[in-house]
Amino acid sequence: MAIKPQKVVLASGNQGKLREFFRILGTAGFEIVAQSEYDVPDVEETGLTFVENAILKARNAAKHTGLSALADDSGIEVDALNGRPGIYSARYSGKGDDANNIKLLKELEGVPDEQRTARFRCCIVFMRHADDPSPLIADASWEGRILHELSGTNGFGYDPLFFVPTHNKCSAELSPDEKNAISHRGQALQHILKLMS
Ligand code: IMP
Repeated sequence: MAIKPQKVVLASGNQGKLREFFRILGTAGFEIVAQSEYDVPDVEETGLTFVENAILKARNAAKHTGLSALADDSGIEVDALNGRPGIYSARYSGKGDDANNIKLLKELEGVPDEQRTARFRCCIVFMRHADDPSPLIADASWEGRILHELSGTNGFGYDPLFFVPTHNKCSAELSPDEKNAISHRGQALQHILKLMS
């Protein structure tokens, strides 16, 4: 069934994510508004999976705005850490992006390149309204490797530590358009747009 919302609230307060959402959705054919414009309170991410947390965020934003909502839950899985920090990526150090990167480097001290494999994951949910019993769900992943030191200034979060083998560069060295064309979020957004059309 085609879904043609007039206005969609983006259920995120993360500026890095919002920049990427707005850039990709600029031509999507509906109006997009950040949840901060409606003073939507943050919801506790009590889920144990990306999809549960994405649904919690979308439902919360839809409930407080009366609009359809898009939410993403995302994170990085590091194989040498048995998939951590995963859904806890934003909360890994408890002190924000820079401290998260320092903690990751410390945990991987002495781990050789071939064991530093990792992937970003992103789950995007679209809810027509807060009680939508069948949200649209799209997910995607992006394979790479954790570097030994920070590199690049673009992006946000773990981008300065995420080496992208297909481009022989760090994620934070990719331009916004280069990143959006291949990233977990870019892929998941394209997928959800298809489901909505
Ligand atoms: P969420 O807001 O609970 O979904 O947490 C997502 C967290 O995962 C972010 O705060 C970042 O730490 C990390 N993350 C997700 N996507 C990216 C990305 O594209 N680049 C860098 N870090 C990311």
